Amino acid sequence: AVRPRVFSGIQPTADSFHLGNYLGALRQWVAMQDTHDAFYCVVDLHAITIEHDPAVLRRRTKVAIAQLLAMGVDPDRATLFVQSHVPEHAELAWVLGCLTGFGEAGRMTQFKDKSSKQGTGGTSVGLFTYPILQAADILLYTPDPGAEGRAIRVPVGEDQRQHLELTRTLAQRFNHRFGETFVPPEAHIPPGAAKITDLQEPDAKMSKSASSPQGIIDVLEEPGPMRKKIMRAVTDTGTEVVYDEEKKAGVTNLLRIFSALDGTSVPDLERRYEGSGYGQFKKDLAQVVVDTFTPIRERTLKLLDDEEQLDRVLAQGAERASGVAARTMEIVRERVGF
Ligand code: ADP
Ligand code: NA
Repeated sequence: AVRPRVFSGIQPTADSFHLGNYLGALRQWVAMQDTHDAFYCVVDLHAITIEHDPAVLRRRTKVAIAQLLAMGVDPDRATLFVQSHVPEHAELAWVLGCLTGFGEAGRMTQFKDKSSKQGTGGTSVGLFTYPILQAADILLYTPDPGAEGRAIRVPVGEDQRQHLELTRTLAQRFNHRFGETFVPPEAHIPPGAAKITDLQEPDAKMSKSASSPQGIIDVLEEPGPMRKKIMRAVTDTGTEVVYDEEKKAGVTNLLRIFSALDGTSVPDLERRYEGSGYGQFKKDLAQVVVDTFTPIRERTLKLLDDEEQLDRVLAQGAERASGVAARTMEIVRERVGF
């Protein structure tokens, strides 16, 4: 049987992924490569929608790929590639942009958020059309163009739902105007994905753009700072290790991280730490976090030492992705009238 196809992308906008990226997305990438025909993309075109440094972008793209491999993404099972290596992404984005209403694009709430944070350089048109490029990323990999009922799956968090809805709308609009070509993609909620909050502000999401260094754990961080951050994580004035999203957001976040990394259920953790206070709980959690990420950090550094091997992986990924993307674009060009 043909496996359902999944597409997911991540931006190379930091020197390391963080714990939230890992538990909310990347760990599921590794799991899904066994059950899906997976296309995983480091989306460097998206990363230039805000001001960037070319050398830094190039390095971060490599580091992102190395981390994904170190986490267990297998380039022989999944198609792992860099967005800019497949020029069809930009070409399809242009076509889809010409099908998008200006007002329709203007309703994207993430743009409103992000543009309000842009500094003196101002907001680019690229940031405005970002969701259209995202639509192209997904639709290029529509399985067997024209086939009914075989939607590509896209893992999305709440903040990406509106963009996926736009992608579905654009797929249908293209089909209506030019003939059946795309299958509207479907949102996929991967089992086991956990939402992780900031260690210092437990009501806010752990985020590379918004969290302070003390609030975020980087995958590539050394064990020392990792332990310190967890020991200093904000909890509450109580002493009970109990899951309560409203009254104990800090402890609840730590329980969620512990359970997700170690596999012990939250009720079992509550029982284990009954009456023992926060100190031992945090100390054990710190160990679990260090044990999870130390091998990933070591493998990443090793992979980065062998540029040639990394380049071979990327060439293989680009070739496989290009095969599918080129076929889709051939149909698109023909239908649009090129
Ligand atoms: P950031 O918010 O740090 O900029 P991104 O928006 O680039 O991260 O997110 C990349 C992926 O990681 C997305 O799939 C997103 O849903 C997931 N992700 C990011 N932060 C978290 C978090 N705190 N908890 C769970 N998943 C997260
Ligand atoms: Na973000």
